[in-house]
Amino acid sequence: MKRSLSKTQQESADPKQRTRMTVNGETVERDVSVRMLLSDFLRHELGLTGTHVGCEHGVCGACTVMINGRSGRSCLTFAVQADGADIRTIESVADENGDLHPLQEAFRDCHALQCGYCTPGMIMNVLSHMESDEEMDLSDQGIRELLSGNLCRCTGYANIVKAVRQAADKANWGSA
Ligand code: FES
Ligand code: FES
Repeated sequence: MKRSLSKTQQESADPKQRTRMTVNGETVERDVSVRMLLSDFLRHELGLTGTHVGCEHGVCGACTVMINGRSGRSCLTFAVQADGADIRTIESVADENGDLHPLQEAFRDCHALQCGYCTPGMIMNVLSHMESDEEMDLSDQGIRELLSGNLCRCTGYANIVKAVRQAADKANWGSA
């Protein structure tokens, strides 16, 4: 005979933890299931569906966001692990008027996307490097290595490499 769990049993099976973080400059605080992934928290709790979910096990890079200024896989991070963190998602990249960031413009200008599923993760990964002080290798090989954690099933990557170089040249980022 199937028995349903009491409320107390349900709560102990899925404990929650008060979690507070900054997301795109705003403080958010929620009681979060300790099993909830950061990707699901962003998408389902906050409605920030620009962060995509592909493989959900750390391979494709579609879920990449910035965690304390560095790119990270939101499908490999529990939301409660982001307690106290500063999170940035693709929704924060264009300015308040909707004007695209130069990196987004470069993706558009170079036709660096087709279905666009991988694009938010690509942008967040590249942006985290561009905004850091680290020197960037803007050779084809260097850019391909930079993108090696982000899979694209549509473009063949050539135009993505072009877009990253265009954005980097325009902003005088890194060195070849
Ligand atoms: S969804 Fe996170 S790496 Fe694929
Ligand atoms: S543009 Fe379709 S997966 Fe990259």
